[in-house]
Amino acid sequence: MLHSNTSLKPHNTFGVDVSAAYYAEFDSIKRLAELLEQKKDLPLFILGGGSNILFTKDYKGLVLKNEILGFKTVEESNNSVVVEAGAGMNWHAFVLKCIDLNYGGVENLSLIPGNIGASPMQNIGAYGVEIKDVFEYLDAVHIETGEVKRFYKTDCAFGYRESVFKRKLKGKYIICHVAYRLNKNNHLLNTSYGAIETELKNNNIERPTIRDVSNAVIAIRQSKLPDPNKIGNAGSFFKNPVVPQKTLQVLLETHPNIPHYPAPNNEAKLAAGWLIEQAGWKGKTFEGRFGVHKKQALVLVNYNNAKGKEILSLSDQIIADVAHKFDVSLEREVNIL
Ligand code: FAD
Ligand code: EPU
Repeated sequence: MLHSNTSLKPHNTFGVDVSAAYYAEFDSIKRLAELLEQKKDLPLFILGGGSNILFTKDYKGLVLKNEILGFKTVEESNNSVVVEAGAGMNWHAFVLKCIDLNYGGVENLSLIPGNIGASPMQNIGAYGVEIKDVFEYLDAVHIETGEVKRFYKTDCAFGYRESVFKRKLKGKYIICHVAYRLNKNNHLLNTSYGAIETELKNNNIERPTIRDVSNAVIAIRQSKLPDPNKIGNAGSFFKNPVVPQKTLQVLLETHPNIPHYPAPNNEAKLAAGWLIEQAGWKGKTFEGRFGVHKKQALVLVNYNNAKGKEILSLSDQIIADVAHKFDVSLEREVNIL
């Protein structure tokens, strides 16, 4: 059913109160086709869990929430399995289901909010793993023609928080199913990143399983990231900037402790959270309603009924200040609408 003038507040983890001129949910490709037929010339926005969006104004078009569910094995060998899930399945529920089945590969991506359908959009990543490492294919409906197309890894142009769906094909496809290839045995655990090893050690775990790694990641995330059910936020508001070696060397002269990591093409990745903290923004609040999270400077938060425009304006000020103090450009990760 097509609803008119619907509040999107329950549908975005920032908890911003805006409305959609039209709103509908679909749980099958057939239902989606009917809605696309009805949509006529309205602008269209596809919504998943709303955990990577900042709405700055009412949406004048049609918001379609993807609720296609399902989880099935489409291929299996002695060592690996390909599982396909509906775009509307919650990402963390998918990770837990894989762990229950002893399928390894996504345990480091535990507790990332949102749904399966958005996971390839920005090639979600955490703790040394990105979905591109296990991605097999996705099926998506072309908005104009209604045709279903299968995209393989090489079609998706995955990069750090990037894919073809954020660039060349932005707004053209609706992702309906995504398939991942996971390991059935001899799991290759990735525990070298961040505090995972320390967390395992603190729990006296010497031979971790994929569930142990998942639990460690969950504990680390809960210790520093705000829970969107309690404090409105969309995770990292900015990407970590990737800069040429020359820029890093200049920064190291004045800031010898600046965190930096190797990036592709001999570039260096800086920690936006560090830059924002050093610039003095960490923990700042404005009128008690919104601000920069006190434990993670990369996360902007809505404490109490802030407007999307206020949060966007704060992000502009942070971008300008970091550029002024470090000569580094921050790019937003969150989708602004
Ligand atoms: P939405 O926010 O609903 O949509 C995001 C974008 O994808 C929009 O442009 C939307 O139009 C598009 N989209 C959504 N579904 C579809 C579809 N089916 N077809 C076509 N387009 C679609 N991200 C990380 O990568 N790593 C992290 O560690 C991480 N941690 C987070 C922690 C917190 C506390 C929060 C709140 C967010 C975090 N995020 C992280 C960001 C976010 O969880 C991910 O980007 C997630 O994949 C967004 O999923 P979603 O379903 O909520 O997408
Ligand atoms: N840091 C600070 N101050 C801060 C925050 C971070 O100095 O307030 C420093 C830390 O001390 C550390 C470095 O920055 O040296 C990196 O911090 P952290 O490990 O917390 O990770 P991050 O770079 O801030 C990234 C992702 C997260 C992901 C984590 C774990 C981006 C934009 N963010 O955060 O993803 O969960 O690593 O892998 O790449 C998201 O995309 O929404 C997200 C939460």
